[in-house]
Amino acid sequence: MKKIRVNVSAGYDVIIGEGLLSAAGEYIKALGGAGKVLLVSDDTVYGLYADIVRKSIEDAGFGVCTFTFPHGECSKNIDTYSRILEKALSDNIARNDIFVALGGGVTGDITGFAAATFKRGVRFVQLPTTLLAAVDASVGGKTAIDLPGGKNQVGAFHQPSLVLCDTLTLNTLPEEQYRSGLAEAVKTAMIADEALFNMIEGADRGQNAEELIAACVDIKRRFVEADERDTGARMMLNFGHTFAHAIEAASGYTVLHGIAVAAGMAIITRSACNRGYCGDDVPARLERVLTKNGLPIDTGYTAEELLPYVYGDKKAQTDHINIVLPRKIGECELRKFGLCEIEELMLDGGIR
Ligand SMILES: NC(=O)c1ccc[n+]([C@@H]2O[C@H](COP(=O)([O-])OP(=O)(O)OC[C@H]3O[C@@H](n4cnc5c(N)ncnc54)[C@H](O)[C@@H]3O)[C@@H](O)[C@H]2O)c1
Ligand SMILES: [Zn+2]
Repeated sequence: MKKIRVNVSAGYDVIIGEGLLSAAGEYIKALGGAGKVLLVSDDTVYGLYADIVRKSIEDAGFGVCTFTFPHGECSKNIDTYSRILEKALSDNIARNDIFVALGGGVTGDITGFAAATFKRGVRFVQLPTTLLAAVDASVGGKTAIDLPGGKNQVGAFHQPSLVLCDTLTLNTLPEEQYRSGLAEAVKTAMIADEALFNMIEGADRGQNAEELIAACVDIKRRFVEADERDTGARMMLNFGHTFAHAIEAASGYTVLHGIAVAAGMAIITRSACNRGYCGDDVPARLERVLTKNGLPIDTGYTAEELLPYVYGDKKAQTDHINIVLPRKIGECELRKFGLCEIEELMLDGGIR
């Protein structure tokens, strides 16, 4: 078991290990002050893990109410959000009670946002069950829902009071979802930690899950502590994301986030190499580790198809974009590019 303390405005522990779901009740009890818990999860995760968590929380002496919604990004909307709030109200959840998000990043983001706003803010606990949520989404306090016009357009900074990551839940995760999370782990290694990159290079699926997640969380912790509100250093976590967001949007969100991030990282890294920011060992090693894990290093979309999504509404607001470029494995830097330079960056990275 590993424990990482995140020292932000209201600090919290991230605990990673096998079998933590069945101990959730005791950990939540240790937070103090609550009488009831609202347990939120999507229908898939509810069927797999809600019984264990519910029993553990009830055994610890809490009243438990549950809220379930259909799985998938399409549920991360105002309707689900308002139904969570209605449920909390009708079940008499009080200001000192706790919301618990059991599931992937969708559940964490929407439950966190509901917790941030219900009665002007109640505490919430994250129980991530996807690799992506474990290594990225469950830590850092960004909560959000989507609007028809764009992802994560409504949200709040609201740090969890506790994150319990039970690595056994990864055993039921579909292969593609696992890969999507692994891409974020590769991203984390690329921006900050060559030793972590070496570990991923040498490992197979499921191996060292606890170590892998702990290493990623510890790096994310450093960025979040340095920049809780995402106005500076934390932007480094966007490595590969400029083109990834465009690929996701162009696909109508049928390409999973992490899968798009893999392609986005490979493209910008080739581009960086072609411009002399890094040596050619950097794209070579990155491409090798992505390919080995069944992740893409390219996209079928053309620059012409992707560019409108990169620009988005930026053209109305600014003439440049901050892009994260690798210097070497484990070190990146933020650079400004004019909007007119983005197409060339794409072409340099191998997009047609
Ligand atoms: N807040 C942040 O900092 C942050 C960071 C990155 C991503 N995100 C958000 O996270 C979301 C993506 O997260 P995600 O990839 O976890 O998606 P998700 O929550 O939709 O989970 C993916 C799928 O896996 C299923 N699932 C979850 N755990 C399972 C398990 N253990 N076994 C079997 N199936 C399981 C879910 O039912 C779902 O169908 C996006 O909405 C993104 O915006 C947020
Ligand atoms: Zn991401």
